[in-house]
Amino acid sequence: MLEALKYRWVLTSVLFFGFLVFICSTASALDNGLARTPPMGWNSWNKFACDVSEKLIKETADAVVSSGMKDAGYVYIVIDDCWQVNRDPSGKIMADAQRFPSGMKALSEYIHSRGLKFGLYSDAGTATCQGRPGSHGYEEIDAKTYAEWGVDYLKYDWCHAENLKQQDAYAAMRDALAKSGREIVFSMCEWGTSRPWLWAEKVANLWRTTGDIQDCWDCQAGWGGMGWTLILDLQAGLEKHAGPGHWNDPDMLEVGNGGMTATEYKSHFSLWCLLASPLMAGNDIRNMTPEIKEILTNKEIIGLNQDALGTQGSKIRDDGNFEVWSKPLSDGSKGVILFNRDAQKTKMTLSWEELGFEKDKAATLRDLWLHRDLGEFGGGFSADVDPHGVVVLKVKQ
Ligand code: GLA
Repeated sequence: MLEALKYRWVLTSVLFFGFLVFICSTASALDNGLARTPPMGWNSWNKFACDVSEKLIKETADAVVSSGMKDAGYVYIVIDDCWQVNRDPSGKIMADAQRFPSGMKALSEYIHSRGLKFGLYSDAGTATCQGRPGSHGYEEIDAKTYAEWGVDYLKYDWCHAENLKQQDAYAAMRDALAKSGREIVFSMCEWGTSRPWLWAEKVANLWRTTGDIQDCWDCQAGWGGMGWTLILDLQAGLEKHAGPGHWNDPDMLEVGNGGMTATEYKSHFSLWCLLASPLMAGNDIRNMTPEIKEILTNKEIIGLNQDALGTQGSKIRDDGNFEVWSKPLSDGSKGVILFNRDAQKTKMTLSWEELGFEKDKAATLRDLWLHRDLGEFGGGFSADVDPHGVVVLKVKQ
């Protein structure tokens, strides 16, 4: 009897303390209701670096609308580094008046009038990566200023932050944004240095997982920049940490920037879509070739990215240069990518079993680049895949 009572007391205490721990751990969870699917838009950095101006941003916003990018889902127009020059005597951040003569509020209004959303960049340290004023110590006044200007998205970098801890510095801006009175998507950019996928769900809507993307297949820069296939390798295994409102960010798109072939850009775009990566175009939208526009606005491929289930795709087979990636979709089907990293055209195979489907039951297939139903197949499927290319399928059983 005494034993039973003791047991009940221990059990009740364990449950009670467990509940307390649960409450405490969720109390600070980021709950801004934003980015339920991966955010889509455009960011100035990959193509224009510091050469940003009011003219460029307005022309880009217009081109996003007229090119069909907006209809395809791209809405955030984000000015990256170099828009800011100084602080006024009250500490308020000042935009470069030469490059943005009408000011940020007017620019934001222009972007909003086109049915788009406005994003800015800052840094958790004392200065941005290009040496402009950072937000350390100015989190509240900056968040307030962004809200006043109608900012909808903040990318927050990690240069000149040597004495800071990621968890604290990013939480400070999260809290400041929450107090600002405006809904602002919060995009962390500390390059994966503190393994943010393990803790940042409570802090941000998205977090970079690696160093900066470069417009190449697999090049590597001494300072940490790398081609997209190297970034892709670092995403395998991170899928369990992504979901509605909180995404792994393998960096902005390089599609259309000139360093790769159309086949390679198609592969880059397909994999980013399957990874449920934020889709921030990084090219000159005003001067896209029809081929690049077709890649960026392929609604069937984007559908994999924006699927309501919000699951990040994962690598289900790795045969050296031949990889199979898959992602469960909300209608019970699976998005599948056959990815050929080899320099030769290669026949690649796929079995229903490896997708977790019944091995003896037929499945229907659609090719999302050809926009064509392929019909019913029993057991599996095989296709010739171009060098550095992909075949992207929707498989339903
Ligand atoms: C860092 C970021 C880039 C870009 C630059 C701007 O390198 O990772 O995405 O924002 O800073 O200086």
